[in-house]
Amino acid sequence: MTTPQHGDDFLHEMRRRSAAEGGVFWVEDDLLALFDPAAARAVSGANWRHLVMHDRFVDMVRRRPSAEMRWTRIRGAWLAQLHRLTTAEGNARALARMRQTADARLGTDVDLVMLAQDLAVRALLPVALTGLTARERAYVVEDLDQKLSRLIALRPRRGPRQRAHFVAVQIRAGLVVRRVLRRRASGRRPRELDLADPVVDLLPELGMDRALDVVTAVLTAIAGPPGAAAAGVLYELARQPAWAARLAAELGAVDEAAFCASPVRTAPVTHRFVMEALRMWSPPLLLMRRARRRFDLGEVTLREGQGYLLSPHMIHRDARHWDRPDVFDPDRFLPGAPHGPRDRNCYVPFGWAPKNCVGADLGTVHLMLLCYLMATRYRLAVPGIATVTMAFRFAPVPQHFRGTLTRA
Ligand code: HEM
Repeated sequence: MTTPQHGDDFLHEMRRRSAAEGGVFWVEDDLLALFDPAAARAVSGANWRHLVMHDRFVDMVRRRPSAEMRWTRIRGAWLAQLHRLTTAEGNARALARMRQTADARLGTDVDLVMLAQDLAVRALLPVALTGLTARERAYVVEDLDQKLSRLIALRPRRGPRQRAHFVAVQIRAGLVVRRVLRRRASGRRPRELDLADPVVDLLPELGMDRALDVVTAVLTAIAGPPGAAAAGVLYELARQPAWAARLAAELGAVDEAAFCASPVRTAPVTHRFVMEALRMWSPPLLLMRRARRRFDLGEVTLREGQGYLLSPHMIHRDARHWDRPDVFDPDRFLPGAPHGPRDRNCYVPFGWAPKNCVGADLGTVHLMLLCYLMATRYRLAVPGIATVTMAFRFAPVPQHFRGTLTRA
């Protein structure tokens, strides 16, 4: 997933042009903005159909063909594993991990963006890759943290020393993944219920380099968007006291075990709140893709090799598709609400088939678990919340968003 870096001015300009030019326009000579919901869906669908992984490095060197690996096969293996993972027990374990992470910050002034990232990543890492030693885990977490700070930083430091350090940390984390896969394959480590595990069965066809790419794709996917979405949820909880009270009433009345078994059914108001937070502040803001074939889009032609930009955020904030798009109102997701999505193409926080997010359900549930903790266990005080604004980095990031968690 490519997430270009940009600033507030760029985003505002994209929004202005999208409104004026109907959602499809050239940003640069070779880069087309596809912020029209139907066009985004159609191009994504056709562009990634029959996607296969690149050849193995060793085969490229030896100039021989690699075993073909369709991307849908990898996705199918992830989705099957996620189905096994997303259970009442899995949710209860994630809740316990979030509780432990938040308890460690009780009573001190904290950066809530970083807290949100920590809560998300610590709850999700065991879903992606588990059974690590403390040292291996530290190496992997350091790599995830450094990638995240690059995405969030206002001005990332990019000198030669920083670059060398970045690469060294990345390689060390990659070696951990390779070792884990090798040992699971040879029986020296037990198989685990995580998203890395299906890759062990595919190792003979994938080869180690491509296997590492697959596991890295999951690790990268859990390191950015889930934490950014969690920051959006904390931001709205802090600045919408009336909604925070509605959530507290709903979540205070549910039984924890029943909530973990079926969050969406037992807490529909919380579900709507999370959906609306994802509409308002969906990460990543922009996805850059390359056309793998030619597309004729009415007056515009996108040629093979040219780039295009997709953006859930642009679609979610477009007044052609949403009534009062800048107003936070979870009730727009009530069935039949007049200010709800115009059609199914207009609500796309998890992207577009066939490359849409495999963790959509789990990501939503984890955001609901976060709401549960905030409503039942903690009190969040954010001095000056009315002055906290969103900056546009790889995702919307609340600026100077600091506060204190205490026990409720
Ligand atoms: C609220 C949290 C999350 C958000 C907002 C989010 C958002 C996204 C988006 C926008 C994409 C790109 C889709 C496209 O290219 O059309 C994506 C891809 C992906 N996400 Fe998520 N995601 C979240 C949570 C998760 C979780 C929890 C997991 C794993 C457990 C996950 C795994 C992935 C993977 C593996 C991909 C790449 C899929 C592919 O290339 O086929 N995501 N996500």
